[in-house]
Amino acid sequence: MKKTKIIIGLVIIVLLIALIVAGVIIIKTNKSKEINENNSIITNNEETKESNENIDNKKGTTSKNIAVVYFSATGTTKEIAEYIKEEANCDIYEIVPKQKYTSSDLNYGDNNTRATKEQRDKNARPEIKEKIDVSNYDTIFLGYPIWWGDVPKIILTFIDNTNLDGKTIIPFCTSGSSGISQSENTLKQYKGSVNWLSGKRFSSSSRKDEIKNWIDSLNIINNSQENEEEKVNDEGEMNSMNEFIIEVNNKELVVKVEDNSSSKALIEKLKQGNVTINARDYSNFEKVGELGFSLPTNDTQITTKPGDVILYQGNNICLYYGTNSWNFTKLGEVTNVNQEELKNILGDGNVTMTLKSK
Ligand SMILES: Cc1cc2nc3c(=O)[nH]c(=O)nc-3n(C[C@H](O)[C@H](O)[C@H](O)COP(=O)(O)O)c2cc1C
Repeated sequence: MKKTKIIIGLVIIVLLIALIVAGVIIIKTNKSKEINENNSIITNNEETKESNENIDNKKGTTSKNIAVVYFSATGTTKEIAEYIKEEANCDIYEIVPKQKYTSSDLNYGDNNTRATKEQRDKNARPEIKEKIDVSNYDTIFLGYPIWWGDVPKIILTFIDNTNLDGKTIIPFCTSGSSGISQSENTLKQYKGSVNWLSGKRFSSSSRKDEIKNWIDSLNIINNSQENEEEKVNDEGEMNSMNEFIIEVNNKELVVKVEDNSSSKALIEKLKQGNVTINARDYSNFEKVGELGFSLPTNDTQITTKPGDVILYQGNNICLYYGTNSWNFTKLGEVTNVNQEELKNILGDGNVTMTLKSK
């Protein structure tokens, strides 16, 4: 009996120890799982962050005004075009024929195949499946295979139907052995004012570094980025010539000016400093006050609309929130608020209006 009790006691102790050990193992396993999961979350986040950064970096340096446009019947030119796209980090468009070229169409050992006949016909312009819009690009790499020493006629379809005026075009081609010059001469017959840069022929064995060296030698990416910056600067300058600000009741009203000598003289005056006008409410349709100097007038009979900025008698500025018909000069109009917002900003009584250059 005593022996049995001892055995039962021992079994209970063993079971308890087993339970404790199992508990410890389960807790440890869960912990390490948690750590693993956390780690992989961190890793994933870092990966996501990194890949976002990569995208951002790419975006930051994307050559927005450069595009590669190419035609490729059997893939050789396509491969070069893709390399150029990668190297210039720019957009790419494929000229896809409405009717695909089959391998028998391309058999240039036979005088009666489609490609051979097209190349012999100076008026042939094979249809393109979808029009390619290159209006947003300044610089285009134009690629094609050499067919009978020249550009495939579908390239002429593209240039005949695309406004390329003012664009820089850099031809490139692939061929078995022929050079690019005959095709360049054909392209240069394009009537518009294109800046044709000297092109380059590649073979099917051309490698990435050959393309990289060529693109580097063109210095096109830096130039086009500079052009982009110049454009932004020009836009800033244009805005400061075409717009001014009326600050009233802590709100800035943007005034787009009329093209006349009165507004030009005002813009010039504002470049020298702000002009403050103490304006009164008049007849429930305008705020009017003296400029303190005179501007040239270009008076005509006008019916004003809310937002019109008017020069009255050469030395008064009126900001209309209603309508009136009179013989006076329009200087411009407020563009950034609607009639109701303008009325609220101006309020009922006198206002101080500060005219500033943009
Ligand atoms: C119709 C046709 C005419 C060709 N004429 C020439 C040629 O005059 N000179 C040449 O070196 N290669 C010629 N080739 C070979 C192609 O220019 C060359 O294979 C090219 O890399 C193919 O480019 P793709 O794969 O982009 O179509 C011709 C190919 C075809 C299909």
